[in-house]
Amino acid sequence: MARVFSGIQPSGELHIGNYLGAVKNWVAIQHQMQSVFCIVNLHAITQAYEPAQLRERTQAMALTLIAAGIDPATCILFVQSDVAEHTELQWIFNTVTPLGELERQTQFKEKSSRAGSGEVSIPAGLLNYPVLQAADILLYRADNVPVGEDQVQHLELSRVIARNWNARFKAGYFPEPQALLTPTRRIMGLDGQAKMSKSLGNTVGLLESPDEIWAKLRPAVTDPARVKKTDPGNPEVCNIFSLHRAFSPAETVTHVDAQCRSAGWGCVDCKKVLHGNMVAELVPIQARAAELRAEPKRVAAALAGGAERARELAKVTMREVRDHMGLTA
Ligand code: AMP
Ligand code: TRP
Repeated sequence: MARVFSGIQPSGELHIGNYLGAVKNWVAIQHQMQSVFCIVNLHAITQAYEPAQLRERTQAMALTLIAAGIDPATCILFVQSDVAEHTELQWIFNTVTPLGELERQTQFKEKSSRAGSGEVSIPAGLLNYPVLQAADILLYRADNVPVGEDQVQHLELSRVIARNWNARFKAGYFPEPQALLTPTRRIMGLDGQAKMSKSLGNTVGLLESPDEIWAKLRPAVTDPARVKKTDPGNPEVCNIFSLHRAFSPAETVTHVDAQCRSAGWGCVDCKKVLHGNMVAELVPIQARAAELRAEPKRVAAALAGGAERARELAKVTMREVRDHMGLTA
């Protein structure tokens, strides 16, 4: 049976970019394939952070994932640092990873140019970040990785690492993991300028109230050709239309398309309909989050159980890896 692995950083609240690009897909996939989902706190510490806040955000991420439909009884949900084998396999993979491939990663180039421009130097962890990601996936010998488009390059590197290790130590041992992308693989921020991302402040949080969401949607960027309400627009270039595609029923999407092209609706009319459909999807998630907040032990127990099951799988892989590498007697 195909095995699925994916991870999410506990770096702030879950937003609709994460949700539509990855997490919504995880919720569907957990019923179809053996799935392992991980809150990757060891990846999060490659950026500046506060320990107390990281602890809190890790718990909050677990709660939100469960509220969004991740069922800890169906899949394995756990926190990365609870399974020490991730870092052990990462070290091993460092020895088969070409440095040039790490230096070529777009995310490394972006993050290191930001870190390097200030007082702080660039930590080696930022460079080795994708090696830990490869270890995450391959520790469970997962072949499918549901992620957003920004992770495609990291997955290519995971395949290089699997191939190099296999060539050196045991043909065919690690599968070459493939990305599972959705039609909503790249959600743009409400500024319409860049992908939705916590660090850019252009997000809609999954747990934001209907009023907060409206306060963000109302001024959000649309097709620049629609200066006046009577100017016809092109929905293909409008971020609000792409969100309709994600949240609204097919008939509404067709209707919105026609109303935009004919200037039948103004952008505010269009946003009001989107708001209604978005809230309809998010309200049940928010209700479950409120229930879970009242029972924090449920989330803690889910993570403890998940870590235990993950460890069992991880131990098997590490025993075999050590054996093939001559690290056992
Ligand atoms: P991160 O918050 O960076 O750990 O991302 C968690 C998951 O959400 C990864 O699979 C990302 O590819 C995905 N993701 C993050 N931002 C977006 C976005 N704007 N559009 C689509 N997917 C995204
Ligand atoms: N790098 C991923 C991100 O920022 C998070 C991640 C870590 C991940 N390990 C993973 C995703 C393994 C998929 C599989 O989104």
